[in-house]
Amino acid sequence: MRMRAAVLEKFGEPLVVQELELDEPAGREVLVRLVACGVCHTDLYTASGVDPSGYAPCVLGHEGAGVVEKVGEDVTLVAPGDHVVTHFAPQCGECVHCKDPRTNLCMAIRQPQNAGFLPDGTTRLSRDGERIRHFMGTSTFAEYTVMPEIALSKVNPEAPLEGAALFACGLSTGLGAAMQTAKVAEGSTCVVFGTGLVGLGAVAGCRLQGAERIIAIDLSDDRLELARGQGATETWLAGDDTVDWILEQTGGFGADYTFEATGNVKVMRQAVESARMGWGLCTVTGVAGKGETLDVIPRFLITGRRVAGSSFGGLKSREQVPPLIDRWLAGEIDVAPLLSHHITLDEVNKGFELMEAQDGIRSVIHFG
Ligand SMILES: NC(=O)c1ccc[n+]([C@@H]2O[C@H](COP(=O)([O-])OP(=O)(O)OC[C@H]3O[C@@H](n4cnc5c(N)ncnc54)[C@H](O)[C@@H]3O)[C@@H](O)[C@H]2O)c1
Ligand SMILES: [Zn+2]
Ligand SMILES: [Zn+2]
Repeated sequence: MRMRAAVLEKFGEPLVVQELELDEPAGREVLVRLVACGVCHTDLYTASGVDPSGYAPCVLGHEGAGVVEKVGEDVTLVAPGDHVVTHFAPQCGECVHCKDPRTNLCMAIRQPQNAGFLPDGTTRLSRDGERIRHFMGTSTFAEYTVMPEIALSKVNPEAPLEGAALFACGLSTGLGAAMQTAKVAEGSTCVVFGTGLVGLGAVAGCRLQGAERIIAIDLSDDRLELARGQGATETWLAGDDTVDWILEQTGGFGADYTFEATGNVKVMRQAVESARMGWGLCTVTGVAGKGETLDVIPRFLITGRRVAGSSFGGLKSREQVPPLIDRWLAGEIDVAPLLSHHITLDEVNKGFELMEAQDGIRSVIHFG
């Protein structure tokens, strides 16, 4: 079929919206009609050319939500008409990691996905006979996409899809960091560094876990205000004195749980150092630049602090995302303030500009 998509032609240049050919879903693949898609840093990171593993031409986009149009002959997990959220983190249910409750790092399709292909090593995207590669296994800056069924969450059809799209990546990452990776205990003190979509999700996750104090740290007053809306009980404008301030606020000990959601390795270090001696757990979600390292004085670890990394909040996507969406529908998670700008596919580059200007939390593309 023919459909419109935003193609990364050359690194560092605007995406070009154009008509492409999309082949039929085969085997365990699904054709999804996109209704909404968030514009995320990872898309911009790849478009800019900074990501060493990036490739072009490809169709970017991964925070998608839409409706199943058609399924391959071996699909059992979804059916036409189902509402779905697209994931870069699949859940095959069968690999060594899917069977283990300790991780969500499904191994089933990692290699072809990272190289821009569907699980069989080919692509469904082309123009005039030239093959175009997929991105993160999703390629949702497009009216339609073909994806493996193991990378789609079937969600409550009552959920507005523009809000559901935020659960495809950033929001679930933050919620999961607090609820799944750290498993924040009731009554505890938490600190969240960075209150973009991931950090705001972490604030909401700490609240849902029953944390008593949730301290949000950011460089922006506007974002700290949004953090209060998600449940932060205290806020602090970030600076070099942040760790000292947190220690002062916590009787000299530090917080039970700290979360880093900036991608800045200096902030990661602050998050480690402001975790409580004895049992403080620092969860790192930010993606650092290529070659950067995290500097930790070993004494901080010997005295009982722990550091955990978290990809997609540690969530097993198909199993754990739909219940989060139900909690949103039940009024427990406030998604509306996170949907800052509504744009069309043709305005996708404006979505990047808004993100670079830190204007709003998420721009969401609506497909007409
Ligand atoms: N682990 C995962 O699976 C996963 C998924 C999505 C995003 N990420 C990563 O998470 C990070 C956050 O993503 P986002 O979409 O929320 O980004 P964002 O840019 O919207 O938010 C980052 C926030 O950090 C704040 N900040 C910057 N420097 C700071 C400092 N010194 N102290 C305190 N706050 C500071 C910024 O003001 C901003 O509000 C990024 O690194 C992103 O790549 C990881
Ligand atoms: Zn994302
Ligand atoms: Zn798996």
